[in-house]
Amino acid sequence: MHILAGPSGIEVARKVGLGLGVPVQEVMARTFPDGERLLWVPRVPEGSLALVQSTAAPQEVRLMELFFTLDVLREQGRSATLVIPYFGYGRQDKAFKTGEAASALAVLRILATYPIDRLVLVDPHFHRTPGDFSSQGLSCTSLCAAPLMVERISSTLKKPLIICPDQGSANLVRKASGDAIALSKTRTGDRDISIDDEKLAVEGRDVIVFDDMVSTGGTMIEAVRIMREQGAQRIVAACTHGVFVEGADARILAAGADELVCSDTIPGPYATVSVASLIAQALQE
Ligand code: R5P
Repeated sequence: MHILAGPSGIEVARKVGLGLGVPVQEVMARTFPDGERLLWVPRVPEGSLALVQSTAAPQEVRLMELFFTLDVLREQGRSATLVIPYFGYGRQDKAFKTGEAASALAVLRILATYPIDRLVLVDPHFHRTPGDFSSQGLSCTSLCAAPLMVERISSTLKKPLIICPDQGSANLVRKASGDAIALSKTRTGDRDISIDDEKLAVEGRDVIVFDDMVSTGGTMIEAVRIMREQGAQRIVAACTHGVFVEGADARILAAGADELVCSDTIPGPYATVSVASLIAQALQE
C-alpha cells in the first residue's frame, strides 16, 4: 500500500504511514496570483493506494484540490481509497427546505464520478447514516473517534462524567459502551442555541463535555457554563472536529473549560488526539 497526502491531509497521512510502515508521498500545490490552485501529483508505485485530504476551511479550495488530485489519478489509470478525516459541508446531507441545496450529497455525487474504491470518513455530521450513500455509488465507511477521545481524556481525570450537548453526540460516545448524559439543546440560528439547564449530579465531579464538532463554540460554551454553574470540578471540553471559527477556542476556555481537546481531523493547537490509528486499522481491513 502507498499513501498519498493531499495538501490538507499531510499531518494525518504521515502518522498513518508511520503506523502502517508504508511510504507517504505528498501532493504539491501552489496558488496563482488570482487565487487559482495548481497541483502536482507524484506518480505513486503500483499497488493499493489511499488518498488523505480533509475538506475543512477553506472548503472550496480543499474540494478543488481533491477533485484535481482524483482527476490526475484517473488519468494515470489509478483508483484509491479516499480518506476524508473532516468532511466539510457534512451538515447539509439533505434539503431541509424545498429548493435548498443538499451540499454534502452534491459533493458525494461528484466524488462518485471518480475511481474511488472506498470512502473513509471520521464522525461525519450526516443526518442520514453513511450507508445510505451507497446509492450514490460510493462504498462509505464511517469511523467513530468519540470513544478513542473519551478514553484518552478519561485517563487524565477522576471518574469523569461524560456530558453531551445533544443526543447525536451522546450516541457517538455510547458506541463503545461509554456512558454519556445527553443535554437537551435547541438551535434557533447559526449562532443562537439554548440548552435546558436541568440539575445534574456534577457537583465536585470531573466532567468531559463532548460534541462531535465545535464551530462557533456557542453550543460548547453554553454546556461548559452550565457545568461550571452546577459546581463541576475539572471541565474538559472535547470534540472530534475542532473547527473553531471566530476565536471559539479562546472563548470556550474563557467560559470556564479547564482544557480543550480535539482530534487531528483538523490540525491545530488543541488537536492532541490522533485519529491515525483508526484510519490505519480501517485501511488494513
Ligand atoms: C450539532 O448538532 C453539532 O453536534 C454541534 O453541536 C454543532 O455543530 C456545534 O456548532 P457551534 O459550535 O456553532 O455551536
